[in-house]
Amino acid sequence: MKFFADTSDIDAIKDLADCGMLDGVTTNPSIIAKSGREFIPLIEEICGICAGPVSAEVASTDFETMMKEGEKLAKIADNIAVKVPLTEAGLKVCKNLSEGGTMVNVTLCFSPLQALLAAKAGATFISPFVGRLDDIAQNGMDLIGDILTIYDQYPDFHTEVLVASVRHPAHILESARMGADVVTCPPSVIKQLYKHPLTDKGLAGFVEDWKKTGQSIL
Ligand code: E4P
Repeated sequence: MKFFADTSDIDAIKDLADCGMLDGVTTNPSIIAKSGREFIPLIEEICGICAGPVSAEVASTDFETMMKEGEKLAKIADNIAVKVPLTEAGLKVCKNLSEGGTMVNVTLCFSPLQALLAAKAGATFISPFVGRLDDIAQNGMDLIGDILTIYDQYPDFHTEVLVASVRHPAHILESARMGADVVTCPPSVIKQLYKHPLTDKGLAGFVEDWKKTGQSIL
């Protein structure tokens, strides 16, 4: 399963890359606004760090302007995935960009039928938002199961399921159990995966016992 970092924080992206935990990066207009940085130079910088797909989202909602924005974003680097919303116009942009060889990430997916449309439009990635469904008392992970079941029926679909709006490690665990292709997570959630109280306790015990030997490996 691939780990994408759902952030534009350069230090966090570099840190995950150094740990071998970075397969791609996703951004959205809210993440860009939070960064306080100019969009295009920021995406260029991220593409210089991350060799995997880097999602950069269009800002408009009409077909013509989204196409122009998508074409401009796609020129930033070979590893750009243009992110478009799951609307009729967005999927039309998806079809056109995909046919031209550009990776497309279709975002804001909240139903299995929307995911079916995205696959038919040639999406490279479909981004179902599990956390935002949980927020309204629907089970976000049920949506992932439904999409995987549907995609499995059709070997000519090549769209990868990119679990988005991840809030906690349980979303990652369930995604891995189900065989989702990608999870995109805030770096803090990826860091939580290293943690286990028995690891900390066990390591403290080993460190103490090693001191008693009076030895040094180096
Ligand atoms: C990533 O592609 C999505 O934009 C992101 O995961 C949304 O997360 P949020 O629901 O926490 O804003």
